[in-house]
Amino acid sequence: MRIDILTLFPSMFVPLVEESIIKRAIDKEIVTINLVNIRDFSELNNNQVDDTPYGGGGGMVIMCDPVFKAIESVKSDKSKVILMTPTGVVYNQSLAYDLSKEEHLIILCGHYEGFDERIKTFIDMEISIGDYVLTGGELPASIVADSIIRLIPGVISEESLKSESFTGGLLDYPVYTKPREYRGMKVPDVLLSGDHKKIDEYRKEERLRITKEKRPDILI
Ligand code: ADE
Repeated sequence: MRIDILTLFPSMFVPLVEESIIKRAIDKEIVTINLVNIRDFSELNNNQVDDTPYGGGGGMVIMCDPVFKAIESVKSDKSKVILMTPTGVVYNQSLAYDLSKEEHLIILCGHYEGFDERIKTFIDMEISIGDYVLTGGELPASIVADSIIRLIPGVISEESLKSESFTGGLLDYPVYTKPREYRGMKVPDVLLSGDHKKIDEYRKEERLRITKEKRPDILI
């Protein structure tokens, strides 16, 4: 998969691409992340990219021209163009699965008051990461990219994906590691029993119990 991230602040993506699992996926060439600075496509003095809104009101609006040109510089027939915005559809794991099957994503990050509405002619999908407003789309884009990349085959083990939270409408089961007892708190006996059928049953029951308790709304 290739992901082009269009932003005015490319350095905000350094932690995403230079650490841990996402870095390994890039090194293994499972994913390519290309950071595109929208400002590089400005043809105005001082690389200006925004201006005051027609009709008045506060804040600055990002202009069409640098955004159109930035998108055109990376777009092909296979691209899906996503706009990060608090007015988009609310993101979830099922959408992450669908997007992980795409060949090429272009993720556009807003900032300031937002974009000139006319950029929407390029957009296939608008995504919000939740009902709150951030200063820009860079953190939401990092969240969306991270959640998609980890689902691409070869990035993390199939085993980890099978039981994780939200798969099959259930939250994940609790896990423990050494020591067997810590400050009087013991690891459940069943996990030390070596009986894998019993362990599977215990984990299924725990997933159901925890989901009923914490997120009854996601049970299917
Ligand atoms: N930009 C600002 N807030 C956002 C949100 N909640 N989701 C996506 N993009 C945003």
